[in-house]
Amino acid sequence: MAVNYSELRTRLKIEIKRPEQSELAYLTHFLQTIDNGSKDHYRQEARQYVQGICDKDVRIDELWYQPYLPIKWDVPFPPPIKHRFKFIDLFAGIGGFRLAFQNLGGKCVFTSEWNHYAQKTYEANFGEVPFGDITKISEQDIPDHDVLIAGFPCQPFSIAGVSKKNALGRKHGFLDETQGTLFFDVARILKKKRPPAFLLENVKNLISHDKGNTFKVISGTLKKLGYNIHYRILDGKYYVPQHRERIVIVGFDTQVFGGKEDFSFPRMPENPPMVVEDILEPEVLEKYTLTDKLWSYLQTYALKHKAKGNGFGFGLVDFDGVARTLSARYYKDGSEILIPQEGKNPRRLTPRECARLQGYPGDFKIPVSDTQAYKQFGNSVVVPLMQEVGKQLVHALEQKN
Ligand SMILES: C[S@@+](CC[C@H](N)C(=O)[O-])C[C@H]1O[C@@H](n2cnc3c(N)ncnc32)[C@H](O)[C@@H]1O
Repeated sequence: MAVNYSELRTRLKIEIKRPEQSELAYLTHFLQTIDNGSKDHYRQEARQYVQGICDKDVRIDELWYQPYLPIKWDVPFPPPIKHRFKFIDLFAGIGGFRLAFQNLGGKCVFTSEWNHYAQKTYEANFGEVPFGDITKISEQDIPDHDVLIAGFPCQPFSIAGVSKKNALGRKHGFLDETQGTLFFDVARILKKKRPPAFLLENVKNLISHDKGNTFKVISGTLKKLGYNIHYRILDGKYYVPQHRERIVIVGFDTQVFGGKEDFSFPRMPENPPMVVEDILEPEVLEKYTLTDKLWSYLQTYALKHKAKGNGFGFGLVDFDGVARTLSARYYKDGSEILIPQEGKNPRRLTPRECARLQGYPGDFKIPVSDTQAYKQFGNSVVVPLMQEVGKQLVHALEQKN
C-alpha cells in the first residue's frame, strides 16, 4: 500500500525552520528521485539524516526507505509518473518554472533556492526542500539533466565595466572575470554538466545594462561554452492581465544539435485572454484597504513627481485592462497596482490575487505571511508564458531524440 508524503513528512520531521537545512534537501530530493537514476546523488546524506533522527541504539540499513514505498505524493503538484525529460530548477523561488516544466512532463532532479520562506512555499507545493546557496554547491553534486533552468537574480552585475574582449581574452578564460556573479554559477554548471538545452530568464534591462556590455559578456560566455542561443523579450500580458516584460534566453548544445535545433519562440496570442477584473476575489478583508495616511502620502508623492515631470506615481488599475508589473517591493505600499473601491480608499491586491496575476493555479498553497508572499510572487514568473516557451524547447529536444 502506498504511503502518503504528508505522513512521511511528519514521521521524518520534514519542517523548514531556518535557512540552509541541507539535510532536508538531501532527504526530499532522495525521496523524489527514488524511482529514477538520480537518487544516488542524495542517498548517503539522506540515510545519515534518518539515522540522526532515530534512537541511538536503532541502526538503519541501506534499504531503510523500502517500507515507505511506493510514495503517494499528496502535494498539489506531484512529480510526473512517467517523465519525458529531466530538468534542474536554479534560483527556484517558489517554483514558477517547476510548475511550467512539470506540466510539460518534466521531472525535476535538483533544486536550489536559498531563501527559507521561499523554500517553505516550494516544499508545501512540490514536496521537496530546495538546496541553499548555489555558489557553495559543487557541479559534481548535481545529477545529469536535459534542461537547466535559471531565473537568476537581477543583481547589479559585477561584470559591468568589463569589456567582452577583456572578459574573453584572459589567461584563465572568461569564467574568471564573471566570478562572483551568479551568472558564473550557471556557466560553471553548464560547463560541467552539459545539458542539451537551457532556459535563462531575467529583467528586460539585462539587454541594455552597462550599454549592452553585460549582455555581450553573458551571450559571449554562453556561445564560448558551445551553446547556440535564442533570445527575446516577452510580455506576460498575452497570458495574464499584467504587463511584465522579461528577457528569455534559450540555448542548445551545438555538439548535440549542430546549431540546427528546431526552436522558435511561441507566437503571442492575438488578444490577451484576461483582464484585471478576472483575477479579483469577490470578498476581500478590510486590511487590504489603504489607510488614509498611506493613501494621502501616495497622492502627495505622485503630485510632487508630476510637477517635476517624472514618474507616474501610484497605479490605479483599469478593471478592463492589464495591470503594471508586480514587483518584489509590492509589500511596501502596493502602489504600483491599486484597486479602486467605491466610497473608500483603494486597496492593494491580496496574495491570492498576486498568484493569479502570475498565472498560478488556484490550488497553489501560500503557507507564509502576506509580506513574504508578496515578495515571492513579485519575484516570480508568468507561469503560462514560460510554459509556452518550454513547449517549444521540449519540442526541439524531442525532435533530436
Ligand atoms: C528572480 S527570483 C526567481 C524566482 C523564480 N523564477 C520563481 O518562479 O519563483 C531569484 C531567486 O534567486 C534566489 N537566490 C539569490 N541568490 C541565491 C543563491 N546564491 N543561491 C540560491 N538562490 C539564490 C533568491 O532568493 C530569489 O528567490
